[in-house]
Amino acid sequence: MLYDQVVEATQAIQKKTPIKPVLAIILGSGLGDLVTEIRNAVAIPYEEIPHFAQSTVVGHAGRLLLGTLEDVPVVVMQGRFHLYEGHEPALTTLPVRVMRLLGAETLIVSNAAGGINPAYQPGHFMLLRDHIYFPGLAGASPLVGAHDERLGARFPAVAKAYDAELRAIARRVAQEHSDITLHEGVYSMVAGPSYETPAELNFLRIIGSDAVGMSTAPEVIVARQVGMRVLGFSLITNTATGNETEEVNHAEVLSTADAVRTKFAHLVMGVVKAIGTQ
Ligand code: 6GU
Repeated sequence: MLYDQVVEATQAIQKKTPIKPVLAIILGSGLGDLVTEIRNAVAIPYEEIPHFAQSTVVGHAGRLLLGTLEDVPVVVMQGRFHLYEGHEPALTTLPVRVMRLLGAETLIVSNAAGGINPAYQPGHFMLLRDHIYFPGLAGASPLVGAHDERLGARFPAVAKAYDAELRAIARRVAQEHSDITLHEGVYSMVAGPSYETPAELNFLRIIGSDAVGMSTAPEVIVARQVGMRVLGFSLITNTATGNETEEVNHAEVLSTADAVRTKFAHLVMGVVKAIGTQ
């Protein structure tokens, strides 16, 4: 049973640290640097946590960190699971359920994404206002399967998934950093792992996407099912308008992420500090 797996994973983590996180953070491609700011960190490799999958992607470490960030007890996923790795959707989101059971009431989720909106440049950030979850719409939702009341509602509403108050805090923090450009828009999640054709990018733009990536939406759906408040960030690593002369590649995605990881750390730490003192 999924619920029993969540409990077993949670208990295994609790055996290693007494920290009770109130905030969960999922770090996307190349954004793992924030972890150096975590104090008194206990790092647990995913292979030591029962029922966790393994990260298989270059640029994604695979460990859970518990500690404090700006004096707020946090649990941080350094590396996440993607549908394109072949995991069942419910398995990719098991850690979200575990982080909730550990105590986290808020989730900050991040990813690297292509910028479909022509105003978005590599190195800019986007706050997620909403998402379009292609695999989920087509049946690959982590909520598909037998339902267990202990996991939350059978039919959770996700119309207000991205918390307006947390977005306002993030915008305020970004304004305090003159080197940070923070947009707000719609994230489309595709399954990947191939990048999109120009025709697909055109389609995504027409239906209202501002950025495209291969993660996040499943985790957000599950976070809402278990009642967490959610804040989402995309780091725009490349333009994805369909008019690019050079094809996008994973190395480019990682090198842009690398160049702005300190900015990202400042942004998230500012938000954590503001939430922590609310
Ligand atoms: Cl262009 N597409 C997708 N699906 N994911 C990305 C990306 C593009 N750039 C970074 N991540």
